[in-house]
Amino acid sequence: MGGKVTVVGAGFYGSTTALRLAEYDVFDTVVLTDIVEGKPEGLALDMNQSRSIEGFETKIIGVTTTAEGAGYEATANSDVVVITAGLPRKPGMSRMDLIGVNAGIVRGVAENIAKHSPKAVIIVVSNPLDEMTSLAQIATGFPKNRVMGQAGMLDTARFTNFVAEKLAVKVGAVKTLTLGSHGDTMVPVPSRCTVNGKALSELLSQTEIDELVDRTRNGGAEVVALLKTGSAYYAPSAAAARMAKAVIEDSGAVMPVCAWVDGEYGISGVYLGVEAEIGRNGVKKVVESALTQTEVAALKAAAEAVRAKQADVQTL
Ligand code: NAI
Ligand code: 2OP
Repeated sequence: MGGKVTVVGAGFYGSTTALRLAEYDVFDTVVLTDIVEGKPEGLALDMNQSRSIEGFETKIIGVTTTAEGAGYEATANSDVVVITAGLPRKPGMSRMDLIGVNAGIVRGVAENIAKHSPKAVIIVVSNPLDEMTSLAQIATGFPKNRVMGQAGMLDTARFTNFVAEKLAVKVGAVKTLTLGSHGDTMVPVPSRCTVNGKALSELLSQTEIDELVDRTRNGGAEVVALLKTGSAYYAPSAAAARMAKAVIEDSGAVMPVCAWVDGEYGISGVYLGVEAEIGRNGVKKVVESALTQTEVAALKAAAEAVRAKQADVQTL
């Protein structure tokens, strides 16, 4: 056990992530921050009081910060920082509708983090994800391997759950993969899906697979439509917390994450959902695997869509 992780934003995503990270009991300290006065302190107090019941020693510290940077001293020298600050979407909104307001928030947070934790690995969560990841790298000036985004783990987990439910098998029997953007150009990869080692195409018709792919692509919107006041956070926080754990443990686990792509799949110069080996310095390497021609074409289309928007965020 050792190390320090900061979770910026104590909303649904941030608070759930902080608790998951504390319950892993792999960090000494989890710092939870928010601009709403008293909210992170109150949540931290509550979480700490669960330690003897759940049996973990990690200490959670809640700190109110300001957009100008007051309070950030408490986050100093974090090994990992998860940025969840920002607005979530409401029914009918796309993730892209959040770009203007969240860009201002993420830029400010990233600058404050860079000042106090110059060696941290950053995991961005705020939407629109691919663009906010790119913006956080620009605002921190950190090497690109030390800034990544969380989306692919979540989208893959949704795909896995839908396949398991459809075939009435255990989730542990199912392997799926989702790459591309965390948006309209998400690329679920049916050719990499297996159930007990059997190709998905041997178990389901193309129409059935297409339905599961569509449901995966709309997985976030489906939850938003039901909740009405916010977006998903249980599966999303599980994904971000596992990424942070892989960093502090230097595990080398291969996960689908939003990472800087530099030549893989014939794509360069863009943050995109790909598989990557995760370790103490963030992305150790992007792992390129065999995809069908259609899947590679979809990944390239996703890269171009993200590239266009990433250029926009530089000025936001
Ligand atoms: P939420 O509204 O519950 O929490 C956001 C929190 O950020 C609020 O408590 C707010 O006060 C805080 N905040 C705003 N500005 C801040 C600043 N400058 N510094 C610190 N805190 C600040 O929203 P929720 O559900 O926690 O979602 C957070 C973000 O995560 C949203 O942008 C949402 O779209 C995104 N998201 C991303 C997913 C992904 O897979 N990448 C999945 C689910 C949500
Ligand atoms: C999700 O996919 C809204 O990005 C969020 O649940």
